[in-house]
Amino acid sequence: MEDTDRFLLKLKGYYFDRLSVDIGFIENLDDFEIREDDVFIVTYPKSGTIWLQQLLSLIYFEEHREGTGKLETVTRVPFFEYNFQKIDFGKRPSPRLFSTHLSYYLVPRGLKNKRAKIIYVYRNPKDVMCSNFHFEKNVKLQFTSTFEAFMKLFLEGRVLGSLWFDHIKGWYEHRSLFNIQFMTYEEMKQDLRGSVLKICKFLGKELSEEDMDTVVRQATFENMKYDPLANYDKIITTAYGTNVKGHFLRKGTIGDWKSHMTVEQNESFDKIFQREMKDFPLKFIWDV
Ligand code: A3P
Repeated sequence: MEDTDRFLLKLKGYYFDRLSVDIGFIENLDDFEIREDDVFIVTYPKSGTIWLQQLLSLIYFEEHREGTGKLETVTRVPFFEYNFQKIDFGKRPSPRLFSTHLSYYLVPRGLKNKRAKIIYVYRNPKDVMCSNFHFEKNVKLQFTSTFEAFMKLFLEGRVLGSLWFDHIKGWYEHRSLFNIQFMTYEEMKQDLRGSVLKICKFLGKELSEEDMDTVVRQATFENMKYDPLANYDKIITTAYGTNVKGHFLRKGTIGDWKSHMTVEQNESFDKIFQREMKDFPLKFIWDV
């Protein structure tokens, strides 16, 4: 048995984090009541989820912008399938903000009726894989083998979130069922202000120039890394113990895969990518 298998739980054909998932909640997901003004961030793990959680909470909550509402981002924008803080979602005031890694076919029926808004953020999968490798190894301390071994698991989909190719293709090919905006990690990295404007336009929110400046400033990597309310350091130690060696906000760059993958690994990744994604129209940014 591989290291990771002990920490994954396959339910409805999808790999969940065994330690954090509420099986009863997942079994009844289809009927979860969606409100018109709910907003969901959807990502494959390690694609910038926490970044979007920070952005949405800054856009929606003035107290967070001013730093007076001393709540962690993950409390303002909780994970849907990993309800770490045991929030009663039904009693939560509107607008409710959620983040999820779920595949398109697992989400509540109400979302498929375009009842709520979804922002789907994707990132080039080589960087996703490398970020994930560090996360499993240094943060969750759930993987002790080599990068080569992790790459094999990633390409077989035996990781949290299952197969990357299925996740993005599933959401994209079924996009007409949803009220969904696709964005990339890389465009956020290259033009954060432009990305915030795009998000605001989709959500029907208007920010003053001053508020926009504040949102952009507080959502930079540098700010989030050192803002204890904007990173998951506390959640991580609660969920995985206190001897973590890494951070959720690790490097935050485009093209970090080049310092991890050998020429051979890169070539074999490319071959699989081309086969899996050959008719896929969205473009990826691999490097800057
Ligand atoms: P790295 O491990 O490559 O640094 P997720 O929240 O989906 O798990 O994604 C985590 C990844 O997003 C990490 O990538 C993290 O550093 C990066 N990230 C988070 N906030 C960021 C920000 N403000 N700017 C750039 N990257 C960010």
